[in-house]
Amino acid sequence: MAQQRTLVLIKPDAVRRGLVGEVLARLERKGLVIEQLRMRTMDAPLADAHYAEHVGREYYEGLKTFMTSGPLVSLVVSGDEAIPVVRKLAGATDGRKAEPGTIRGDLSVSNQQNLIHASDAEESAKREIDLWFAA
Ligand code: CDP
Ligand code: MG
Repeated sequence: MAQQRTLVLIKPDAVRRGLVGEVLARLERKGLVIEQLRMRTMDAPLADAHYAEHVGREYYEGLKTFMTSGPLVSLVVSGDEAIPVVRKLAGATDGRKAEPGTIRGDLSVSNQQNLIHASDAEESAKREIDLWFAA
């Protein structure tokens, strides 16, 4: 038993498509706990900080345009091994390749507009929670 907290973003495509409830329901039905929840629109500096390791990649400008294109929902989610558990619920990055049964595999056919962000390790979870939910 290792309780973890992870940062989840329900991305602007999910908000536009009316899938916020669907994504929240999947997290809740799994047994995870939604500790914090906020709707906001990412600005360019927050995008650069959140996706620091991606700045400069060939897809980054498109990713930033997408992520700042409208409101998203940020969450802190907790539970036993919540970091890998949420990554598994999200599925592979590319919705066309993600397994059916996952959020991306069931609901996305895009490598960019893939509905959800989830922290990938304890260190990134801490960094991202601080970034999005600083006191
Ligand atoms: O989100 P995840 O950790 O699964 O993937 P990533 O490789 O860390 O990439 C972060 C985000 O960048 C993805 O979720 C996509 O939205 C976007 N991306 C993209 O637009 N084009 C790519 N070739 C790869 C990723
Ligand atoms: Mg990632």
